[in-house]
Amino acid sequence: MNKLAVKYLGMDLRSPLIVSSSRLTSTLGSLKEAEDSGAGAVVLKSLFEEQINHYISTFDSSSGYPEADDYLANYLRSNSVDEYLSLIRKAREMLSIPVIPSINCFSSEGWTDFAKNIAEAGADAIEINVFFLPADRKKTSAEAEKVYLELIEKLKKTIKIPIAIKMGFRFSNILYMIDQFYMRKVEGVVMFNRFYEPDINIDKIDIVPAPVFSTESERRLVLRWIAMASAQDFRIDISASTGVHSGADAIRYLLAGAHTVQVCSVLYEKGLPFIKEMNKKIENWMDKNDFGSIEAFRGRLNYRNYKKPEVYERTQFMKYFSSED
Ligand SMILES: Cc1cc2nc3c(=O)[nH]c(=O)nc-3n(C[C@H](O)[C@H](O)[C@H](O)COP(=O)(O)O)c2cc1C
Repeated sequence: MNKLAVKYLGMDLRSPLIVSSSRLTSTLGSLKEAEDSGAGAVVLKSLFEEQINHYISTFDSSSGYPEADDYLANYLRSNSVDEYLSLIRKAREMLSIPVIPSINCFSSEGWTDFAKNIAEAGADAIEINVFFLPADRKKTSAEAEKVYLELIEKLKKTIKIPIAIKMGFRFSNILYMIDQFYMRKVEGVVMFNRFYEPDINIDKIDIVPAPVFSTESERRLVLRWIAMASAQDFRIDISASTGVHSGADAIRYLLAGAHTVQVCSVLYEKGLPFIKEMNKKIENWMDKNDFGSIEAFRGRLNYRNYKKPEVYERTQFMKYFSSED
C-alpha cells in the first residue's frame, strides 16, 4: 500500500506534494519531469486574462474598421486560449497524475468563458487564482469581498468540475471568507497565493520587483491559518502553498491540517527531482513515528486537536515586553 496516498478535490493522489502553478508547469517536458520525480499532481501555469488582453493590445491593429479590429482581438485571444487547452489535452494524455489547470481573470465574462473551455478540454478540477487589489478607500471590505463571492457563484453555475480557490491572505477575516466559499460549494482552498510586490531601489531611486521566490520563514503565517481553518467544521480541502522548502516543511503543513502541499520556489532552486527527496523525507518520518497513512497524522496539531489551542490565537510577544515573564 502506498502510504503517501491522499484524496484532494475528489481525486486520488499518490503523494500530497503538488507542483504549484508557475513556469515549471507550463511545458509538457517539465510536467513529465514532475511526474517522474514523484509529484502527486501538477497545477498548470495560470492562463491570465490580463496577459492575453495585453498581448492583444501590443498589436497596433487599428485598421479603421472596428469590426475588423474586434475580429483580430478575438482571433488572438482564442489562439492563446487554444494553446492552453491543447496543453491540458496533451498533458492529460501523457501523464497519469491529475493535471489541474489554473485561471486568472479580472472580468466576470473572462472567468466563466475560460473555465468553461477548460472543463470541456477534460480537466478533472480547476484552480482559480484570484485577487483584486482594493484601491478604493470609499469601498467597504464587505463590498470588496462580494466581488469574489459573485464570481464564485457565476463559476459554479457554469462548470461542474471541482473548484479550488487560490486565495490571498489579506482579508479581515480569513475563516469567514473560507466559510463563504464553502457555503457556495467550493471544494478546495489554496492557502495562500504569493503575489508580486513592488519594492524601492534607493540607488536607482526607482521601483523594482521584490524577490519572486519565497523564503522558509514565510511558512509561519500560513501555518497558523491552516491550523485554524482545518479545525472548522466546513468540509473543504486545504492545499498549503508558500514557504515549503523541504520535506520537513511539508510535514509541518500536514500536521497543521492541510490535505495537500504545493511546492514552487524550492523547485526553481533545486530542480523538479527534489520532489523525490521530499517524498522520501515524509515517508521516513512516517516510519519513524509509526504512521501508516497521511490521514493518521493530518491535522494532529491543528487548532482543535492541539492540547493548547490558544497558541494559535496568540499574536503578541508578551513575555518579551513584560517584566514579570
Ligand atoms: C516565477 C513564478 C511564477 C508563478 N506563476 C504563478 C501562476 O501563473 N499562477 C499562480 O496561481 N501562481 C503562480 N505563482 C505562485 C506559486 O504557484 C506559489 O503559490 C508561490 O510561489 C508560493 O509558493 P512557494 O513558496 O513554494 O514558492 C508563481 C510563482 C513564481 C515564483
